[in-house]
Amino acid sequence: MPDLLKIADHGAVRVIAIDRPDKLNALNAATIDALDAAFADAAADDAVRVAVLTGNGPKAFVAGADIAEMSALAPAQGRDFSLRGTRMMRRVEKMPKPVIAMINGFALGGGLELAMSCHLRIAADTARLGQPEINLGLIPGFGGSQRLLRLAGRAATLELCLTGAPIDAARALQLGIVNQVVPAADLQAETMRLGERLAAAAPLALRGLLDCVNVGGECGIEEGLEYESAQFGLLFASADMREGTRAFLEKRKPAFQGR
Ligand code: COA
Repeated sequence: MPDLLKIADHGAVRVIAIDRPDKLNALNAATIDALDAAFADAAADDAVRVAVLTGNGPKAFVAGADIAEMSALAPAQGRDFSLRGTRMMRRVEKMPKPVIAMINGFALGGGLELAMSCHLRIAADTARLGQPEINLGLIPGFGGSQRLLRLAGRAATLELCLTGAPIDAARALQLGIVNQVVPAADLQAETMRLGERLAAAAPLALRGLLDCVNVGGECGIEEGLEYESAQFGLLFASADMREGTRAFLEKRKPAFQGR
């Protein structure tokens, strides 16, 4: 089987690129499994401080779940396919280090769902995003209705999922679905700049923050505030917190070690 992913390290930034450009990087079961393994590896490797996820080829980030593979599934298999993608995307969302989606083209269906499971999204001005499952007699199956609701609210979720119509990157920015839109020619450089910036930050603080947002986003304010205080306090045990505060007082750049 050909490699479904291309993985390359640029310093502490790991770039994971889905490599099925002839199928617009559609997510079949094998690609979902390859992504699951790639993110498990990136999580476990201390040399990796940030991951960037993208799609190879000139047209697509990911044009959705693989429709050819899905078309023949029985109901129980459809459910399993959904659970498979959902599990992988939950892994991405709960990664202990930042994951940036570099959206270089179509991010449709499972592609938008995958991008929304990343922590930050930076899109080329040529990208198009949407949840077109309704056109197939389906609904989002990898968490799209739930993550879009939390990210952009009820009106945007109902609009995108009920009409299935794609939106351009500028509208996605307006709706809060992406963090940043850049000219397509600058996408890689801008994403790497963001990646390197995050890679220079204190890894334990990044992890604490990601945990706070993941946990706090799903519980009441009292529990969320309590959780944040606990994470905040825990960081006082880290060498990096001492280094960060000392570097500020000594008017120099901190050098964080992840300890
Ligand atoms: N699943 C499987 N194959 C897909 C795919 C998907 N989600 N999206 C694209 N492809 C395949 C096409 O079938 C085609 O394969 P072929 O060359 O063997 O026929 C190839 O990728 C190129 O796609 P094509 O449709 O020819 O490109 P286009 O530029 O004309 O159109 C899109 C691009 C994205 C508008 C169109 O491919 C599309 O609508 N894709 C499906 C989007 C979708 O519904 N996603 C949600 C799935 S749940």
